[in-house]
Amino acid sequence: MDKTKELQEYILELKKKRNAIILAHNYQRGEVQDIADVIGDSLLLAQKAAKTDCEIIVFCGVHFMAETAAIFSPEKIVLIPDKEAGCSLASMISVDSLCKWKSEHPGAIVVCYVNSSAEVKAESDYCCTSSNAHKVINAIPEDREILFIPDQYLGQYLKNLTGRNIHIWPGYCHAHHKITTESVVRKINEHPEAEFVMHPECGCLTHCMKFADKILSTEGIVKYVKESPNKSFIIGTEVGILDRIKRVAPEKEVHPVTEEAYCEFMKLNTLEKIAWSLEDLEYRVTVPEDIAKKARVPIQRMLEIV
Ligand code: 13P
Repeated sequence: MDKTKELQEYILELKKKRNAIILAHNYQRGEVQDIADVIGDSLLLAQKAAKTDCEIIVFCGVHFMAETAAIFSPEKIVLIPDKEAGCSLASMISVDSLCKWKSEHPGAIVVCYVNSSAEVKAESDYCCTSSNAHKVINAIPEDREILFIPDQYLGQYLKNLTGRNIHIWPGYCHAHHKITTESVVRKINEHPEAEFVMHPECGCLTHCMKFADKILSTEGIVKYVKESPNKSFIIGTEVGILDRIKRVAPEKEVHPVTEEAYCEFMKLNTLEKIAWSLEDLEYRVTVPEDIAKKARVPIQRMLEIV
């Protein structure tokens, strides 16, 4: 048996012994996806984390995702295999800057993208993910001013789509920022037969949405590629998703817009670190109950809307 398989079998055994569940985001390494109980987007993983009966959740994703699991399951042990696995987008807004912004817009409704810290969620009115942001905005009374944090591209997209009075925080994901209009146009010219699907975090969203057949969450992209009768696709999101697509739709041809759309933080979770995580119950992600209690409100509102 090769080393990878051996390590995977060891993890699966340890997982059973520990009564643990392994949740993996769509951008995780292929060998990590192999051993996951659930692979999905932020919303699906948050829902699974909230429902599991397992005592331990190993979250193979980035810190805010594990935090969301901890917010909903304070009695469970939530682990992240590498504590450096942060999210560049989530770190673009602090609770202090949000509170200052709120004070400049009294009465505005704060909608926070799920890529945000627990403290920031605790100061927000609604949470949303890439798969439900439009529905969440539509659920807010029309006459209310909205502060959208922290992703500027998703915010601008929602503003264009709804015509609502939305103020946008200038944050962005460093990996999706590398998906430029030039790289999209080049790929479309190289593969004119392919459908183009993109994630709403893409830096070129406003310019390239006219070329897109669909704008979807990571899980939405996976499903769309699997179910579309077409064979060839250009994928505008982080390249880790290609492993997932190849797993569920091996007959499809997928072309990333650019290999540069790579999230090094997502890839910090390796098989070795997952094994150590289960052995030593490290690194535990917890959220103080006063913050978790406040952060549950916007997440719960989102779940009620969807
Ligand atoms: P999804 O919810 O679409 O998986 O997106 C999460 C994310 O962090 C994308 O960069």
